[in-house]
Amino acid sequence: MAAMPYDPWLSERHGRLLMNNPFLMLGIESSCDETAAAIVAGDGTILASEVASQMDIHAAHGGVVPEIAARAHLDAIDMVIDTAIAKAGVGIESIGGVAATGGPGLIGGVVVGTVTAKAIATARGIPYYAVNHLEGHALSPRLVAPVAFPYLLLLVSGGHTQLLAVHGPGDYERYGTTMDDAAGEAFDKSAKIMGLGYPGGPAIERLAAEGDAGKVRLPRPLKGADHCHFSFSGLKTAVATRHAALKANDSDGASLADLAASLQAAIADCLADRARRAMDRFADAHGASTLVIAGGVAANKAIFTRLEAEAIGAGFDLVVPPAWLCTDNAAMIAWAALERRQTPDGMSFAPRPRWPLDPDAAPPPGRGVRA
Ligand code: KG4
Ligand code: ZN
Repeated sequence: MAAMPYDPWLSERHGRLLMNNPFLMLGIESSCDETAAAIVAGDGTILASEVASQMDIHAAHGGVVPEIAARAHLDAIDMVIDTAIAKAGVGIESIGGVAATGGPGLIGGVVVGTVTAKAIATARGIPYYAVNHLEGHALSPRLVAPVAFPYLLLLVSGGHTQLLAVHGPGDYERYGTTMDDAAGEAFDKSAKIMGLGYPGGPAIERLAAEGDAGKVRLPRPLKGADHCHFSFSGLKTAVATRHAALKANDSDGASLADLAASLQAAIADCLADRARRAMDRFADAHGASTLVIAGGVAANKAIFTRLEAEAIGAGFDLVVPPAWLCTDNAAMIAWAALERRQTPDGMSFAPRPRWPLDPDAAPPPGRGVRA
């Protein structure tokens, strides 16, 4: 099981904090392929953050299988919560509230986390919070950096690619979303086509280091478009065509590494172009501020470098939370509940497979809109 890295400064602060009897929130995350639990104090100190990944289970299938994921969450959740409480050095009686991801995500996993959180809240007589998983990502930078509202968020994961103006807890303005695949999905599906295994992002990044992005031409879907939406499914189709040519020795000597480098550059280009448009729109409304990147794809160095240059050009600060906070975790779920502590949810809350952060957002042109 993975945990947040040891930090002596945090550990000392943790010891002093517990003597003052702080409000402690238990967070639970189970919306995709990580079962996670965390204990976070009201001032944002993370006392424990545990993540049990199902990656090995799903790797054999080349992607997340929802039924298998739900069963794996059920198997792991008690142990993950027990470990988080033990590592935090507190007893269950010290927990003041319990928060679980209530959606969006794979419904079987969300049900497991929701039922567990409601059971703990009922047994202990403490408030229960249903947290929007996307809100967890959106507010996570405030756990590690003094990022003031409003700021612009680029959320790039396996399930989502969105640009959001974050005005405050519960107050989001969606500038753009993907019209089809998420950026991480483009990495994963392309890696599958190229025979590189799952998850695809890290495999493509490793191979791309040996390749030349200029040797294979790939499209830049929606680059220059006069809105902030994304599209990645055409890129995956183009990768399939180029890969077939490569296999048939009909690719002017380009290698698999060249194709990986080209794909990474194309995704980075699209993200940078759309993010720049969103920064300009945000700056017109609020002045230049901070661009936060969250989600698993933010771990990609080439993408980070490309977005860093774009942020500097637009006069924005760039904040990328550490990888353990960028990928799915329960500390961000506990924190999102702490940011709106006065409004707990009732036990009648029903898990929501779709749960947009900005329900009033205009849909992107075209088909198939994600939460
Ligand atoms: O945020 P995350 O851990 O889980 C959710 O999807 O919610 O993101 C996982 C995604 C996968 O699609 C994975 O391929 C991608 O993030 N990813 C990367 C890298 N590391 C993870 N993509 C590109 N480069 C990476 N180094
Ligand atoms: Zn996520």
